[in-house]
Amino acid sequence: MKSELELRGVQQRFHARGVADGYVTAVDDVSFSLLASPPQIVSLVGQSGSGKSTIARNVLGLQKPTAGSVLYGGKDIFKLSRAEYDAYRRDVQPVFQDPYAIFNPFYRVDRALWKAVKKFKLADTRAAGLELIEESLQAVRLEPENVLGRYPHQLSGGQRQRIMLARVHMLRPSFIIADEPVSMLDAQVRKHFLDILLDFQREHGMTTLFITHDLSTVYYLGGEVMVITKGQIVERGSVATVMHEPSHPYTKLLLDSIPQPDPDQRWTSRIQVDELDHLDDNTPADTTQPEAPII
Ligand SMILES: Nc1ncnc2c1ncn2[C@@H]1O[C@H](COP(=O)(O)OP(=O)(O)O)[C@@H](O)[C@H]1O
Ligand SMILES: [Mg+2]
Repeated sequence: MKSELELRGVQQRFHARGVADGYVTAVDDVSFSLLASPPQIVSLVGQSGSGKSTIARNVLGLQKPTAGSVLYGGKDIFKLSRAEYDAYRRDVQPVFQDPYAIFNPFYRVDRALWKAVKKFKLADTRAAGLELIEESLQAVRLEPENVLGRYPHQLSGGQRQRIMLARVHMLRPSFIIADEPVSMLDAQVRKHFLDILLDFQREHGMTTLFITHDLSTVYYLGGEVMVITKGQIVERGSVATVMHEPSHPYTKLLLDSIPQPDPDQRWTSRIQVDELDHLDDNTPADTTQPEAPII
């Protein structure tokens, strides 16, 4: 089946105090579609509070939009049958900003991978399961002997993040929804992570919606980009075109905030590592990132 994820006129309002009408419109009539084939990387870039995480929550089925719909294979994800929903949950995988928050600190990290093997019945025997786990760790450039048997706090942030990618590698979803996945990582580790997403696209045909406030990562990934401000997508197109010929003033503003943007000169080391998304400081904790089960 040729799968497709589509947002059609999605609007998300939240009640809020102290604003004119008693609500904020976090997502305002957003439409776009992601194709599984050919695999693509689509970045959604905008500053903190522009509605990115809310869109991720809508796409992941964690938040039902106030209006409009999210369609998977042409069907509204909030109206799927149990079997269709299970298929969707496997085929559309999230990657989160801080994997430490979703690892259970009392269990070895292996457990997160074994749970995926069991839940999705990926292997019949323990030996086959282990082989799959080791293969997936290698696919994300981790040495199995360096990470298996360890507890989350014994690994670096980059290693934890790559274990989440190993889990994705095992599941081979059509779509990855990555909400600020590299915001907590330093420059070199960040590049590693982006390279793995590019591998996933080229070698395993996965399509990624890459959500970020950081244009330099968008340059690095290439592909398509959508620029969002105040809940509206104001510009979209190939990264090269949008960066060379931005048509919306907001895109120009974003570009101006980066030193010497040049899409032909793909960035390798000049990354702003201190530019974290500070939204967490002023919004309820559960609204900034899609919630993940503890694994
Ligand atoms: N559950 C919620 N209740 C009230 N307001 C929310 C909620 N979730 C998000 N918002 C508001 O919606 C807007 C967009 O938030 P968000 O999608 O987290 O933006 P981003 O991820 O781009 O930083 C912000 O103004 C935020 O305060
Ligand atoms: Mg966010």
